[in-house]
Amino acid sequence: MSDPHADAQLSPLEVLARKNAEALLGGGQARIDAQHKKGKLTARERIDLLFDEGSFEEIGKFVMHRSKDFGLDKEYYLGDGVVTGYGTVQGRLVYAFSQDFTVFGGSLSETHAEKIVKIMDLAMKNGAPVIGLNDSGGARIQEGVVSLGGYADIFYKNTLASGVVPQLSAIMGPCAGGAVYSPAITDFILMVEDTSYMFVTGPNVVKTVTHETVTSEELGGASTHSAKSGVTHFSCANEVACITRVKQLLSYMPQNCEETAPMLPYEAGQNESRPVLDTIMPENPNQPYDMREVIEGIIDADSFLEVHQNFGENIVVGFARLGGRSIGIVGNQPAVLAGVLDINASTKAARFVRFCDSFNIPLLVLEDVPGFLPGTDQEWRGIITNGAKLLYAFCEATVPRITVITRKAYGGAYDVMNSKHIGADMNYAWPTAEIAVMGAKGAAEIIFKREIAAAENPEAKLQEKVDEYQQKFATPYRAAHRGFVDEVILPSQTRQKLIRAFKMLENKVATLPRKKHGNIPL
Ligand code: HXC
Repeated sequence: MSDPHADAQLSPLEVLARKNAEALLGGGQARIDAQHKKGKLTARERIDLLFDEGSFEEIGKFVMHRSKDFGLDKEYYLGDGVVTGYGTVQGRLVYAFSQDFTVFGGSLSETHAEKIVKIMDLAMKNGAPVIGLNDSGGARIQEGVVSLGGYADIFYKNTLASGVVPQLSAIMGPCAGGAVYSPAITDFILMVEDTSYMFVTGPNVVKTVTHETVTSEELGGASTHSAKSGVTHFSCANEVACITRVKQLLSYMPQNCEETAPMLPYEAGQNESRPVLDTIMPENPNQPYDMREVIEGIIDADSFLEVHQNFGENIVVGFARLGGRSIGIVGNQPAVLAGVLDINASTKAARFVRFCDSFNIPLLVLEDVPGFLPGTDQEWRGIITNGAKLLYAFCEATVPRITVITRKAYGGAYDVMNSKHIGADMNYAWPTAEIAVMGAKGAAEIIFKREIAAAENPEAKLQEKVDEYQQKFATPYRAAHRGFVDEVILPSQTRQKLIRAFKMLENKVATLPRKKHGNIPL
């Protein structure tokens, strides 16, 4: 499209104006119209939605590709299919790249990759988040290996930037091949329903290799990746909702690993009692309740941003504010599979804990867990390794860490869920807490097996032993006597206690032994 010889008759200022106008058109009006027809925004419209009005500064607007094969010597587009730059989002510095599907389907060329790497370098040097607005057919096929090299350069930078600055990936169109691996390394992925896809190979290749017939949506749409694979953390109804969610997420995060997240104003000394929490626990300890109600009862009003809502639903994770402070919450969910820990719940929570710890976001754990999920399916798929991820993530976290045991804290799951023993700073328990190696019936059946078998009335004996075990261990007091629980509190006091404890911990300094890096069980 761009003709380098077309400017001979124009003044220098006119040349600049013409080039600017040309760059804004990307792959041309017809392709912009086609993009709109699919219900999609253009790369520049997305940038406008993301940044504070008038704050975006573009970098590399006139970059063009270098390759000349397969007709590329006759077709040039200023910017080469990606808009890159910086600006402010809610007043804070942010870098972004936005791939332009109207230029070679947003495919990644050598120069396209260089533009992305350039803003990632700037983001790391200046300590600010990077947002990727992805809409790409993958490696630019005409370019061959230089395009693959460009992807590798980005993956490498993503990895170096991991834990240094937050990296968020919004998927706003097809993302195939290499286009999925950069998002996968970033901290959070958001997908748009019905118009975005992520797959390593598309339906045609799947058909050839495995003979499966599958649609793009089934294979790699937002619902698949939010509920089945867990690849995406958020499924958004449309592009506007997606970009709004990106901004909301950023509001809970610091700019980089050296900072803490911004505090919202909070007036100390308010009445923080929440009587509603005193009646939230069902009388029957086997009856479910929704941990989200506990969360809502504790945090600042309407501040919960749930992450991975549709995946591994037996654990709830997300960001919230408590007395204006940004915190990460991990809560077992008794309403789903009794809150048991399985592979999906463990990996989901482990990744969230790692993010919060990387970026100095204090952690609150709400615990009601009967243990790890038994069975061949879980064992054969590696619940041991995967459960260990969560254990490792908590053990290694140095941010302020507080646990509230609301009800069950059984077995290995007691240890794993941010117990005192693995470095939690404060551990509270509600009076309804049951902290033991296992449930009373299972315990009595094992340790009193002979006594029960020999009894005149085995059933009555079993019940007697169950009651005995229950009384001794299905309470928070054994743990409190040992100091494994710092205080047994009324549920209504939880908010107050947590606000004070997180304030007390805000200057916490904890360091890990010197090492190159640990070896988390991946
Ligand atoms: C060059 C590409 C392109 C690509 C699309 N286009 N993908 N050009 N390289 N990878 C161009 C098309 O020729 C077309 O140009 C325009 O973009 C729009 O594409 P359409 O096919 O018309 O759009 P649509 O029907 O919406 O389909 C989009 C799509 C499909 C699903 C992305 O184009 C597609 O399957 N593309 C190829 C995907 C792929 O196999 N990529 C390589 C992956 S391998 P015109 O001129 O007509 O507008 C890879 C290796 C990296 O990425 C591995 C690193 C680990």
